[in-house]
Amino acid sequence: MVRKYIFGEPVETGAAVNDCMTARELPSYLQTGIADDKITLTYQFEDDEAVYGLGEQVRGINKRGFSYISNATDDPVHTENKHSLYCAHNFIILAGKNTGLFVDYPGVVKFDAGETKSTQLVITAGKDCVIYLIEADSLKAVVKQFRELVGQSYIPPKWAFGYQQSRWSYENEDAVRNVIRRHHGNNIPLEAVYLDIDYMEGFKNFTVNKDSFPDLKEFTDELKKEGVHLVPIIDAGVKVEDGYETYEEGVAGNYFCKDEDGDDFVGAAWPGKVMFPDFINADAREWFGGKYRWLINQGIDGFWNDMNEPAIFYSAKNLKNTFDKVSEMKNMNLDIGAFFYLRDTVNALSNNPDDYKSFYHTINGKRVRHDLVHNLYGYNMTRAASEAFDKIVPEQRILLFSRSSYIGMHRYGGIWTGDNNSWWSHLLLSIQQMPSLNMCGMLYSGSDIGGFGCDATEDLLMRWLEFGIFTPLMRNHAAIGTRQQEVYQFDRLDDFKNIIRTRYSLIPYIYSEFMKSVLDNEMYFRPLAFDYPDDKFAVRTEDQLMVGDSIMIAPVYTQNGAGRYVYLPEDMLMVHITSPCERKFTLMKKGHHYIEIALNELVIFIKKNHVLPMAVLDDDVKTTRDIEGAAYEWLGYVDDTAEYVLYDDDGISKEYTPKEQWKKYTFAKEDFREGYIYKEK
Ligand code: GLC
Repeated sequence: MVRKYIFGEPVETGAAVNDCMTARELPSYLQTGIADDKITLTYQFEDDEAVYGLGEQVRGINKRGFSYISNATDDPVHTENKHSLYCAHNFIILAGKNTGLFVDYPGVVKFDAGETKSTQLVITAGKDCVIYLIEADSLKAVVKQFRELVGQSYIPPKWAFGYQQSRWSYENEDAVRNVIRRHHGNNIPLEAVYLDIDYMEGFKNFTVNKDSFPDLKEFTDELKKEGVHLVPIIDAGVKVEDGYETYEEGVAGNYFCKDEDGDDFVGAAWPGKVMFPDFINADAREWFGGKYRWLINQGIDGFWNDMNEPAIFYSAKNLKNTFDKVSEMKNMNLDIGAFFYLRDTVNALSNNPDDYKSFYHTINGKRVRHDLVHNLYGYNMTRAASEAFDKIVPEQRILLFSRSSYIGMHRYGGIWTGDNNSWWSHLLLSIQQMPSLNMCGMLYSGSDIGGFGCDATEDLLMRWLEFGIFTPLMRNHAAIGTRQQEVYQFDRLDDFKNIIRTRYSLIPYIYSEFMKSVLDNEMYFRPLAFDYPDDKFAVRTEDQLMVGDSIMIAPVYTQNGAGRYVYLPEDMLMVHITSPCERKFTLMKKGHHYIEIALNELVIFIKKNHVLPMAVLDDDVKTTRDIEGAAYEWLGYVDDTAEYVLYDDDGISKEYTPKEQWKKYTFAKEDFREGYIYKEK
């Protein structure tokens, strides 16, 4: 049951799309207080009660014991002392009560989940907000009802489930060709190559550097022949430069955010001075979205929207003040106090809270200060693009994902989890973020595989890929200046090839489970606690996940780990996979086990009376085009009978297969007489 509580005069965020009952008094277990423009909700935890949700955040799956602040922030150092990452996913679940709370407030929201006082949760938001309360009879049901409220998640084209390679930046056509050649030439599948900021002319959105990419249309045509897609980045800020079309149109159309005096607000990002389109304004959205048309006409069918918290390197005003302060200090003896003051003053140039309070949006004719709607910015940038795609190519799915988001954006695009590092702890963080994102509707998601910052090592990349096999977005991405981390940069090319080929053979399952999760408002990645809520070990498991209906995974995420402890909440069939056709099966009993997992091995666990379809791959599969129509082998642990419902479609149109036509397969124990494999005749 979903109930809605309206406090004050909330901004319409567009997060919820379906109606529910409006109620007045929150239940007595949530104490409400309103003071100083803030609303607080206080809840006393039951002993050991777990807390879930909050999407992209730091720390574990069970969020109890720390504070999380929804305040979209461009901070590339995702350590566990941080409280905010790029997104604001204000949906939290109290496991003891099978209750969810969605705090629909677009400014800063704080969830103190037992940091200040270990026995209580305190949520603080602005006093003008809407709170949705969902009470159900299981954790899964809480999520399902929440997802029904906020609407169906974004569906990418099927090719976006292939392996994708990125780096800041492949400098020209030849660099891109080389990436493709070194994958395809070694029979390593590759679906897309990303263009980072340097493809543009002077970091200007919707321009292309003619020296490095002389004819984009011709180039995308060439790549299409190989089945490879080119995915350019689009940044939120528009460069301030006379004669630059997008800038001039934005000024003429009044599409940029304004400062206190009503002038265009000037901030800075990659190109230096930029202005920020007022994405929260419908006219500005329509204008900016329309700009993608040009790239689509060049044959582009995928985009990543970045820097849309928005990241502000500095504002013109703050920069001037900083220079003034710094020059005053020029001849001083900088003692500890003065030196720290100087350092903090310079550091405070970027993403400064005062800057976010100094510019405005025009929403339905009303001026609204940015900080009060801050968390809607990236969401609406992506909405702008998605709404434009519906007009430009109404029949076609376009790949689209964003760095910043708010609940509601999940209908328009996916997300990646931003600038992580090549750290083992960030591989674990990524494992823990995925189910939390799914709770909030962010299904098409993934992290920068191998890590964005710092230098990736071969073993880290391999282990990360072994988890990345299961993330809908499987993209290797790294920062400029770091070690090259395409798989062919390392010695164990065959092992990498086998891992990526295994992803391709699992695409029928991954796509089917992803699509069913989207269409049924379910979770593709689930913590064990959601499937085994009465199992005291399962509910505390933080590093294993259920993936779709048939399997559990337990990725290795430690340096030099030759295996790991795994908890099996029921008897399962363990499969060690070294390539799509090299598999070793072991029946395992419920309980704790130490399992050896060599660096080149992937381990999955198939649930009893469940099956897993795997496409039989030719040796030279290069893209998802080459697996269409492939025969399946079914891996199965069938003790009695098993059923599998396979979802499939053409992967590109928006004609999703109706439920009545989802293909039902049934298996009997005898089908697996010769082991654990059933081959389609
Ligand atoms: C941001 C993005 C990163 C990108 C870089 C350059 O840091 O998060 O993915 O490579 O900008 O565009």
